[in-house]
Amino acid sequence: MTEVPFLDLRAAYDELAPEIEFAVHRAVSSGWYIGGPEVEAFESAFADYCGANHCVGVANGLDALHLSLLALGIGAGDEVILASNSYIATVLAVTMAGATPVFVEPDPATYNLDPARISEAVTSRTKGILPTHLYGQPADIDEIRAIAREHDLRVIEDAAQAHGARYKGRRLGAHSDVICWSFYPTKNLGAFGDAGAITTNDSAIARQIRTLGNYGTASKRYVSEVRGVNSRLDPVQAAVLGVKLKHLDAWNRRRAEAAAFYRSHLPSGLVELPHVPDWAEPAWHLFVIRHPDREMLMTRLLERGVQTLVHYPVPPHLQRAYADLSIPPGSFPVAEDLAATVLSLPIGPHVSREQQMHVVEALQESATAAA
Ligand SMILES: Cc1ncc(COP(=O)(O)O)c(C=O)c1O
Repeated sequence: MTEVPFLDLRAAYDELAPEIEFAVHRAVSSGWYIGGPEVEAFESAFADYCGANHCVGVANGLDALHLSLLALGIGAGDEVILASNSYIATVLAVTMAGATPVFVEPDPATYNLDPARISEAVTSRTKGILPTHLYGQPADIDEIRAIAREHDLRVIEDAAQAHGARYKGRRLGAHSDVICWSFYPTKNLGAFGDAGAITTNDSAIARQIRTLGNYGTASKRYVSEVRGVNSRLDPVQAAVLGVKLKHLDAWNRRRAEAAAFYRSHLPSGLVELPHVPDWAEPAWHLFVIRHPDREMLMTRLLERGVQTLVHYPVPPHLQRAYADLSIPPGSFPVAEDLAATVLSLPIGPHVSREQQMHVVEALQESATAAA
């Protein structure tokens, strides 16, 4: 039977092994184990790729979000608007900063923060809007920024799943105040461990994030300007990322080809397929379908060798971690319905056409049986 793992990270390594080993050797033999030329080279290459003036490497995507909020002066007493179906890290960043998350339902077609619902959530305490480009689909940034301008709010984008995605023809990475990236190994641009970055056109924000990530030390060693943390991009990870960045567009094209194949071959009457607005070129980090009997579908697919995952089964307001927000079930029906019905199919750059065909066949059999 054809087996289709959800993601094959080993295949990604195998394809680039000689280049990666060369870069890792260069990094470990350089004598620079914190910061240095590998980090600088990657920051510069990723800023160029994003069309941004600055890139600051940090230790992971959660830190990128947290430090961005701190750098923008968002903290205790402030509110930040984000989608009610956000990944938990996005919410954690807000509460780590001491601010209060204010959930707004996503658009039920795109699964991204619904601009039409943002204004009614704005209060005198709102300081920022934090849209996620969920599953690699760009959120409607122009609409969100227009609302932010109207209410004098900052926009922090969570682009952890959207490396290389385009909004109205332009790559994500420089549209808003600050854009946050994760290079967690499963991401479209993934390191061999934890890593993250921010991109921005604002030199003061970039400087502040670099300071905050280096114990609050700016120009002078051992002189702390602010209470910072230790969150820096590791040079070995930067070397790996520099290699993988050169292949990102090609690997994203493979994802897009797989997405096009699924969209034209999957039974749209039996499962709900992703909707892509005209202005969006997704990075296809995940290919998410919906089905009312999701658990049954997952089991049947697994019986046919197809591994699937759920992103995500519990919306943030119903997580025990946020029980103190006292938001009862039923408060965010769009997010709750998504959590109950979404299912992610294998779409990594190393899923072969034969495997994609097997996914389609397995889904046709399973969805019919589950309907
Ligand atoms: C949307 C989103 N935001 C934030 C994060 C946090 O990134 P990291 O795992 O690098 O901390 C992730 C990934 O894990 C993510 O998918």
